[in-house]
Amino acid sequence: MKKRSIDWWRSATIYQIYPKSFCDSGSRGTGDIQGIISQLDYLELLGVEALWLTPVYSSPMIDNGYDISDYYNINPDFGSMADFDLLLAEMKKRDIRLIMDIVVNHTSTEHAWFQSALGDKKSPYRDYYIWKDPINGQAPTNWASKFGGSAWQLDEATDQYYLHLFAKEQADLNWENPQVREEVKKIISFWAEKGVDGFRLDVINLISKPAEYEHDDIGDGRRFYTDGPNVHRYLQEISKSVFQKYGCVTVGEMSSTTLEHCQQYSAKDGKELSMVFNFHHLKIDYENGEKWSKTAFNFIELKSIFNYWQQGLHNDGWAALFWCNHDQPRIVSRLGCDQHYRVESAKMLASALHMMQGTPYIYQGEEIGMTNPGYTSIEQYRDVESINNYSILVNEKGIEPALALDILAQKSRDNSRTPMQWNSSKNAGFSKVTPWISVADNYLEINAKQAVSNPNSVFHHYRKLISLRKEIAVISSGDFTDLQPKHAQLFCYQRKSATQTLIAINNFYSQVVHYTLPESVDVARGAYLLSNYEDCMQQLPTQHMVLKAYESRILLIEH
Ligand code: GLC
Repeated sequence: MKKRSIDWWRSATIYQIYPKSFCDSGSRGTGDIQGIISQLDYLELLGVEALWLTPVYSSPMIDNGYDISDYYNINPDFGSMADFDLLLAEMKKRDIRLIMDIVVNHTSTEHAWFQSALGDKKSPYRDYYIWKDPINGQAPTNWASKFGGSAWQLDEATDQYYLHLFAKEQADLNWENPQVREEVKKIISFWAEKGVDGFRLDVINLISKPAEYEHDDIGDGRRFYTDGPNVHRYLQEISKSVFQKYGCVTVGEMSSTTLEHCQQYSAKDGKELSMVFNFHHLKIDYENGEKWSKTAFNFIELKSIFNYWQQGLHNDGWAALFWCNHDQPRIVSRLGCDQHYRVESAKMLASALHMMQGTPYIYQGEEIGMTNPGYTSIEQYRDVESINNYSILVNEKGIEPALALDILAQKSRDNSRTPMQWNSSKNAGFSKVTPWISVADNYLEINAKQAVSNPNSVFHHYRKLISLRKEIAVISSGDFTDLQPKHAQLFCYQRKSATQTLIAINNFYSQVVHYTLPESVDVARGAYLLSNYEDCMQQLPTQHMVLKAYESRILLIEH
């Protein structure tokens, strides 16, 4: 195996696998670990350096594995520990690293700790969770669960409520209890000892709850526990005892966070984490901050958010770059045009993101331009959050079912959880039997087999982006300037280092744009690195250009 530097991830691209929807090696209709192994050659061809595997531990699967009932075992639906060990070995052979998902803000209510704590104030595990007395016969605060409804659930036997920031089957752990932190270290060490290379930490900035549980008069409670009082101290503690000891790469999922906190989470000294996911750039199609709404995206705001984070983390942190994951709709359906310019817009969006500073993540299917499936009935949905919110929209907010379905079709997490489209055979080659969630109808046209065989496909565009990041230093090191922050159609930014300047010009719309680069850009010394239109690559760069629908051009100037 090639020797890699300790911060290999700064010029790497990581691929996210949602195992339930990736590849079914058997006939269950759900993906599994053997299925992943069977596709490693495909991932090697793509060129990614690491895989992030969403949870495969024992779980009742209320939230598809983000409700863990045993951190030391593999969910039999996904396979066995032997399958897992084989996956790791096969990945090592191909020099692909493995990043596991660690969910320690909460456990499943089926976890043995919670089962012991429930109904028994004297249980040694009672204090592993957060229990509060009712106030006037009601929940202790008005905090909302992120999946809808109250964040508190009553344990009738003891007349106390437990906190669950997500589903009621996901009880929040009490990180103030040092024993809980010891358990977390033990869990992470167990997987690191197996040879896992890194960890993605689920909603990790929510672990530190406040000393007082207050009613939130102006919100849903998140301001009291987001980036909470001891979060940095806890992360430093875990990092020192496990992440640094094993040399792990770590990425923290940060919910509703701030730049200042992220600078600290991902500071260069490596005392907390390697890098951070934040979600501000994906709230640009939330009407007045409300996810469950249907609205167009705000392009100027999108650029301003990227600018703020790119500049804020340059030299002072490290970003995980992403458009898609298992909680987000498909980007080509969201910001691109999946009807008329699917290939062009998928490539443009990829370039626009991958030329920024940070570590890009590709979510399964994004590399072939998979779209939202366009479900039209609530029966097609499986996701606990989507189903809860459909009921809130229709039953509590009085929204017409047809509109509520339209909103789900735009916002639901199931948009990205449809089976990976491998080929044009039945069930898109995902499974021999009917999949747990319906395949998008367009799999005959959009599938990995077709994409690999077509040199002009979205897949080959991603391959190129992955290899450019390894070859061209300015992509991982340069600073960031938005050259046209107010332009209504173009996202045109510059990356600069002492020896190179890279310009990324991206038309986010279908209308043709005439554009002249600023005089300061020495076009005569430049060459195009990549475009999504072939004729561009045959031209010498000029100051003035005419950009076609969703056209993207990447220009490199050596000083
Ligand atoms: C994260 C996961 C999401 C999960 C939630 C609760 O946001 O990405 O899928 O539902 O945490 O664990």
